[in-house]
Amino acid sequence: MARDAGKIYALSTVCTHLGCTPNWLESDNKFKCPCHGSGFYKTGINFEGPAPRPLERFKITLDDDGEIVVDKTRKFQQEKGEWRDPESYITV
Ligand code: FES
Repeated sequence: MARDAGKIYALSTVCTHLGCTPNWLESDNKFKCPCHGSGFYKTGINFEGPAPRPLERFKITLDDDGEIVVDKTRKFQQEKGEWRDPESYITV
């Protein structure tokens, strides 16, 4: 789960290179993949290493009690313009 510019979104932690699990590095303010060194900003955008595209985001909604619900069966890809879909984030 990450927050940026008034939005909360749920990032997939599957590297878009070969599928390893990037770790959040608080001191560097980025996700770093341990396999081949791809780096991703908090938004999920790739900026270093071999990853060809950003991390994916999952569907995120609030239930009737105001609890955050993440639906991992529904993915949104930045390069397809899907991050503009209102189901890919919660506004805060
Ligand atoms: S699997 Fe993440 S950089 Fe290769």
